[in-house]
Amino acid sequence: MKFKRYLVTAALPYANGPVHIGHLAGVYIPADIYVRYLRLKNCDVLFICGSDEHGVPITIKARQEGVTPQQVVDKYHNLIKNSFEQFGISFDIYSRTTSPTHYQTASEFFRKLYDNQQFIEQTSEQYYDPEAKQFLADRYIVGQCPKCGNESAYGDQCEKCGSTLNPTDLINPRSTISGAKPILKSTSHWYLPLDQHQPWLERWILEEHKEWRPNVYGQCKSWLDAGLQPRAVSRDLDWGVPVPVEGAQGKVLYVWFDAPIGYISATKELTPEWGKYWKNLETKLVHFIGKDNIVFHCIIFPAMLKAEGSFILPDNVPANEFLNLEGDKISTSRNWAVWLHEYLADFPGKEDVLRYVLTANAPETKDNDFTWKDFQARNNNELLAIFGNFVNRTMVLTHKYFEGSVPLPSTFNDSDKNIIDELTKIRHKVEHSLENFRFREALSEAMNMARIGNKYLTETEPWKLWKTDPDRVGTILYISLQISAGLSIILEPFLPHSCKKLRNILNIKNIEWEKAGQIDILPKNHKIEQPELLFDKIEDEAIEKQQLRLREIKQRNLFQNAPVKESLLSVSYETFAAIDLRVGTILEAERVPKAKKLLKLTIDTGIDRRTVVSGIAEYYQPEEIVGRQVVVMVNLEPKELRGIVSHGMILMAEDADGKLIFVKPEAVVKNGSAVK
Ligand code: 2FM
Ligand code: ZN
Repeated sequence: MKFKRYLVTAALPYANGPVHIGHLAGVYIPADIYVRYLRLKNCDVLFICGSDEHGVPITIKARQEGVTPQQVVDKYHNLIKNSFEQFGISFDIYSRTTSPTHYQTASEFFRKLYDNQQFIEQTSEQYYDPEAKQFLADRYIVGQCPKCGNESAYGDQCEKCGSTLNPTDLINPRSTISGAKPILKSTSHWYLPLDQHQPWLERWILEEHKEWRPNVYGQCKSWLDAGLQPRAVSRDLDWGVPVPVEGAQGKVLYVWFDAPIGYISATKELTPEWGKYWKNLETKLVHFIGKDNIVFHCIIFPAMLKAEGSFILPDNVPANEFLNLEGDKISTSRNWAVWLHEYLADFPGKEDVLRYVLTANAPETKDNDFTWKDFQARNNNELLAIFGNFVNRTMVLTHKYFEGSVPLPSTFNDSDKNIIDELTKIRHKVEHSLENFRFREALSEAMNMARIGNKYLTETEPWKLWKTDPDRVGTILYISLQISAGLSIILEPFLPHSCKKLRNILNIKNIEWEKAGQIDILPKNHKIEQPELLFDKIEDEAIEKQQLRLREIKQRNLFQNAPVKESLLSVSYETFAAIDLRVGTILEAERVPKAKKLLKLTIDTGIDRRTVVSGIAEYYQPEEIVGRQVVVMVNLEPKELRGIVSHGMILMAEDADGKLIFVKPEAVVKNGSAVK
């Protein structure tokens, strides 16, 4: 079907932290490229985004920082909005889910489904904090992981072993709000019966949308194959859109119910014609998201829209995989990220360089890695050496030989004609890649226009012809100038800042997509301005500074003490005092056969001579530790290790690299001295 208009959404980022390069690469840059391309084609398009300001993590952050959830989201909404603006992400609106329009829209949406019996109401037992007098979201409950014993597993997940949990799986659960032991209490919620939507979803996705990206299609298929279950769309929480049903005090819409409705409310805020976009089959709706959002945009939100009855469904959901940073998964909690606001401070004026690198290396079909070395290489060897160099040479030569005016071409020879042919082909290829959401392919194809131009200048060497054949020089520069102008169009979706600068130099005001690759963009005798460099070299020092920052973060993460064991928070003094720690001296040390990590030590504890087996063989040679004073826990229950009974444990400290270092008294003391 031929669509008359486009509605493009980009996932609403959570307003509980700043955005990083992973967000930009995964969602916002591809969405922006697509929209800028459509605008260049004069399509009717709206580009919608905003902050996702509800959900439990925001309430947790607020509690931790001693502020209100509203203060948390205000702070990050502004920071995020500002970063997007600076990177040229050209939303038509960047709204937020705490806006009054959103509350009203989400509320009405729920109410319509409720009135039309599209929900089922179910009662279940959930954990409740009797001291704080509130139900506990999964993240507000910690306890021991039944799988690995981790004392601080969350109600939905153990971060140590990665298991997905239910709050009732936890051993000794505690509320993180009051520390109280939670009790089970019954509560009722509204569920979207996804099982009832399964038949049409299967048809719609598996049969009618085979063209979706394999990662998207595959994830949907595995959800559908497993069989959809009813999903709760309300929560017992005091932060969110209140459930608009009598008697539902203390209940709010589940954040994943209200967030996608945020796309609709933002469109409403933008234009009174919002219905034309959301409720008309001639609109092509496209959701740009990261892979962790697939089920919500391909199954749950469509089921909501269908249940409501008057909305269109997405035509495509081009979800990206994840971007890693220098070989490791990006992690907000470990600060393992390149934050956009920090990049902007460190590399002012280089927004396009990051846009370029993140597109050239976009995680479209698999997870990809961002490295600072690659960033530098792509700037220096591609943006600067190919694109920047070509347009700069062209403009300098035009000023040198033709006083900054577009020369008159004479006849085109065969090689000129070949090049002119190539240029149109490039535009078609870029177009085809963009229409199919293959942005890295599109960029590489668009850069071929610069490659061709560069090669053309290098091969024709107009500077050698000026004396003998100035007409030929005029033709070469005419073509080169048209290619430069074409580049300012074809690269516009990818590099909007640099293309604008280039158009300013070339004195081009209005552009349209179809002109890219044509050789009549600039009229003869058209005046161009003085050249300016579009890109400059990124030196090693700037890269080393970033690499150093990451090394420091890694160090700090290693140094950071393991989280305080929750159970220890309540160890009584008596329990502590029961541990008998003594200073002793290592008398003998030998390797334990077939055990890489173990040393068998004989220790004079002042009380006795005893054997202790210690896991330090990777860090110390037996001979180098004989004679050292150490601290030994002497009343640990004996344990057999590799056939040797160990009576006690040596205390060691772990350094940043995980190496174990002896803990010893600052001065030599008598063996048997107590450590208290
Ligand atoms: O994963 C996320 O960051 C969510 N805040 C995305 C929401 S997208 C939409 F549904 F609003
Ligand atoms: Zn675990």
